[in-house]
Amino acid sequence: MAGRFITVEGIEGVGKSTQIDFLRGLLEARGVPVTVTREPGGTPLGEAIRSLLLDRRHTGMAADTELLLMFAARAQHLAEVIRPALAAGRWVLCDRFTDATYAYQGAGRGIGPGRIAVLEDFVQDGLRPDLTILLDAPVATGLARAGRRGPGDRFERETVNFFERVRAGYLQRASAEPGRFRVIDAGRRRGEVEAALAQVLDGYCRSIGKGA
Ligand code: TMP
Repeated sequence: MAGRFITVEGIEGVGKSTQIDFLRGLLEARGVPVTVTREPGGTPLGEAIRSLLLDRRHTGMAADTELLLMFAARAQHLAEVIRPALAAGRWVLCDRFTDATYAYQGAGRGIGPGRIAVLEDFVQDGLRPDLTILLDAPVATGLARAGRRGPGDRFERETVNFFERVRAGYLQRASAEPGRFRVIDAGRRRGEVEAALAQVLDGYCRSIGKGA
């Protein structure tokens, strides 16, 4: 049986990395083979593209260049990691995917969703996440946490208004596709977020007939 494709999304500082580790543990405890990966990146070539994208020196990067680099990294990631893992029956747990492109390059930078959809169809050829977990928290909460990690990459240096648009973009996508998205309030204490995640995963596994 083909594996499942689960993506985790949210603005900076909502605790994605910590919660992805937690999800990996839950899945492994169920005996599910898991591949954990991230975007932009996940392959040697994709990580090189990521370095270009995050480099603070590239202040003049055009929005379309940013968009195309995201999809270039994604094409490599799909070919080298995601599709082979799914075909082998593994579950792929991915830190960000194309919803991030709609949120950051779309809502954040102002690129129309129709133009992103063209690239999504071209690069993904019908492949979409089975489940997307959106860790949602107020921008001030996220940025305060992200700010503690250091001077910040090219995205982390964006304005509060930019992240407000990104957050709104994510929430809009979640309400447009309630079957795929689960929105989790990530502004709470870690233990509460974990309990909510465990519940979501349990519900999802039941829905596809993979009980505990
Ligand atoms: P990270 O902080 O989750 O490692 O992601 C790196 C940055 O890349 C983050 O600021 C969000 C941004 N990003 C986009 O702008 N568009 C995308 O499609 C993806 C996958 C990430």
